[in-house]
Amino acid sequence: EKAGFEHFMMKEIHEQPKAIKDTLGSVVKDGKIDLSNVGLAKEDIENISQIHIVACGSAWHVGMVAQYVIEDLARIPVRVELASEFRYRNPIIDKDALVIIISQSGETADSLAALREAKSRGIKTLSIVNVVGSSIAREADNVFYTLAGPEISVATTKAYSTQLIASYILAIEFAMVRGQINQEQYDGFLSELSELPDKIQKIIDDKERLQWFASKQANAKDIFFVGRGIDYAISLEGSLKLKEISYIHSEAYAAGELKHGTISLIEDGTLVIGVLTQNGLYEKTISNMVECKSRGAYLMGLTTYGNYNIEDTVEFATYIPKTDEHFAASLAVIPLQLLAYYVSVAKGLDVDKPRNLAKSVTVE
Ligand code: F6R
Repeated sequence: EKAGFEHFMMKEIHEQPKAIKDTLGSVVKDGKIDLSNVGLAKEDIENISQIHIVACGSAWHVGMVAQYVIEDLARIPVRVELASEFRYRNPIIDKDALVIIISQSGETADSLAALREAKSRGIKTLSIVNVVGSSIAREADNVFYTLAGPEISVATTKAYSTQLIASYILAIEFAMVRGQINQEQYDGFLSELSELPDKIQKIIDDKERLQWFASKQANAKDIFFVGRGIDYAISLEGSLKLKEISYIHSEAYAAGELKHGTISLIEDGTLVIGVLTQNGLYEKTISNMVECKSRGAYLMGLTTYGNYNIEDTVEFATYIPKTDEHFAASLAVIPLQLLAYYVSVAKGLDVDKPRNLAKSVTVE
């Protein structure tokens, strides 16, 4: 059932190109986005005044990426919230808002409660869900199914990746319907998305170098991830993946925020991983990494092919293919999933069933 892989997580990492192709294929037909299965009409999209994305864990990290992409492309204000906070906050929601719930299982108690809270106020809801017929899929006004297939490993990989795709599709469609992008940009974005599966495959094919690097981190006490903008959102996911299956303490920080306290934790040899996929923010994040290095940190950089001068700064560099920067999370998360996996394996841990965790959190 693991198709020759040692763990479900590795099998599911390898299934990401197909999961993305399937999810794209369900909503892009003849070079055009078709949301008729989701049920969102053009008038609905034109009327959205603001978006609240509500989720837990990795699904919330997808929301963090989606916030940057939707705001930048469609120019609709987006707020991303933890479901466990949203439901008890007496949130202010505009009557023309759209509440988007993201959930792999469709059964996460807090996410379901947040959905019900929005519905009870008469707010339009859309869910991005993997498990067909689950509670969150059934109860939301509209459902965007991710076609990741069953995900067994507790640490999510392919569900996360397909949730990103759903977010990009919504961002592009909202942007087009609301006149924020032209046909050429629309076509360009869809063509970039169609190239993601092959680019992910290339990263996976290159996994040995990451395995080698990961095997040296087995004794790390703390690992920090830093980035700005979308790179910060990717850092959050990289850090969660690592801590949940390797049991190494890890934190993700918006790179500019590190010096407001957390930098005091940097010691000789602490690993700091910089995520640098956004060229406009590259120099800024590098300078934050250099601040860590001068306090003893050991640096890894994750950036796009071409940025080879990163090797002047970091001890270990890993590269991802170029794509439109809005979609870089889809590529950058892959080496971080592999890193977490290989650290967990190097420590001899139960990769697919980390301690204290359940696949679906149905208690609040
Ligand atoms: C982390 C992980 C969890 C889930 C979270 C939400 O790898 O899998 O953080 O993302 O529990 O679960 P769903 O998506 O089922 O609502």
